[in-house]
Amino acid sequence: MKKTIRDYELEGKRVIIRVDFNVPMKDGIIQDDTRILASLETIKYAIKKGARVILFSHLGKVKEVSDLEKNNLYPVSVRLGELLEKSVLFSSKTRGVELEKMVSSLQDGDVLLVQNTRYEDLNGKKESGCDEKLAEYWASLGEVFINDAYGTCHRAHASNVGIGKLLPNGVGFLVEKELCKLEKIMQENTHPFVVVMGGAKVSDKIKVIENLILKCDKLLIGGGMAYTFLKASGYDIGCSIVDDDCLDFCQNILNQYGDKIVLPVDNIVSCSLESEQCEVKMIKDMNCPDMGLDIGPKTVSLFCQELKYAKRVIMNGPMGCFENFKYADGTKAIYDFITLNHIKTLIGGGDSASSVNKLSDPDKFYHISTGGGATLEYLEGKELPGISVIYEK
Ligand code: 3PG
Repeated sequence: MKKTIRDYELEGKRVIIRVDFNVPMKDGIIQDDTRILASLETIKYAIKKGARVILFSHLGKVKEVSDLEKNNLYPVSVRLGELLEKSVLFSSKTRGVELEKMVSSLQDGDVLLVQNTRYEDLNGKKESGCDEKLAEYWASLGEVFINDAYGTCHRAHASNVGIGKLLPNGVGFLVEKELCKLEKIMQENTHPFVVVMGGAKVSDKIKVIENLILKCDKLLIGGGMAYTFLKASGYDIGCSIVDDDCLDFCQNILNQYGDKIVLPVDNIVSCSLESEQCEVKMIKDMNCPDMGLDIGPKTVSLFCQELKYAKRVIMNGPMGCFENFKYADGTKAIYDFITLNHIKTLIGGGDSASSVNKLSDPDKFYHISTGGGATLEYLEGKELPGISVIYEK
């Protein structure tokens, strides 16, 4: 068990909380504030306990000067202030006198958000490279470190692992909840355990497949990645997306675990994503220019047959190009079946959370993870560096 924010006396202390405010942002406007909402419990707790709260987060990637303005965290401080119903201080610099003065003037219950930690990547990747000097400097601003940036736990950066090594530390409520849900669903001994995987590419998911295939009873594969498996099984997949480099991997997995794997039998095809025309086609009848963009109705029934008796489900990735409403039906049908039948389902990784927000009711699922890469690495069976650095109780 990891130490948590509850294990520390916070009153009057400068408490650094690493949050994941890596939110989608367009022209300075936040497109989805789910991650800000997810951090509120920990921040509110720290305020209530009289901490002087210093928040660190990254936003996007900062590789050149032109990346600075579009990844400015200032709009997040405004939104956070609205959600907390109190003013949130903002330091436009990641180091220096302005930041130090703001930190030393903090009163109990005040909240300060520091500019995007990846501004430090501009000259030598100091944040992403976990620069020791930078971590020492940031750690010197606080007295306790709380990691609540679940989405960043697979990164070993200065603002999480670096500071974490130097201060008494613990996890926040979001990280605690994410780990608890993942651990429970992975470790409980209930069967059938069904994994549903989708998304565009096999290459991103090789290690997840290798790990989960050993533990699950059935692996249902939809989305773009199904076509690499179908091609490896000998089908003509027309002009559908394919990871040719992964054909051998798919063939080996099918040879070893073919009895566990369920692939689509039909799909919705078009000649391109932009075309108005689309039709249902059996996989066996495909040829160019057919491009598979969603699972078809027969595949939905086949997958639902497998899900019907499932005691637990992990779903990673959508079944089709759900961003286009013509290709959202497959993903929606699977979500509807899961929620109507109250099947215990954890949704995690990449596009999954946004597809649930768009097509279903997130409250009807066992858990929707806020992490993309972090959840994938957890499902690969890897230890996450942002978690390893936290003290055991
Ligand atoms: C995420 O969105 O997955 C996390 O915030 C990590 O972001 P990164 O992939 O840019 O490190």
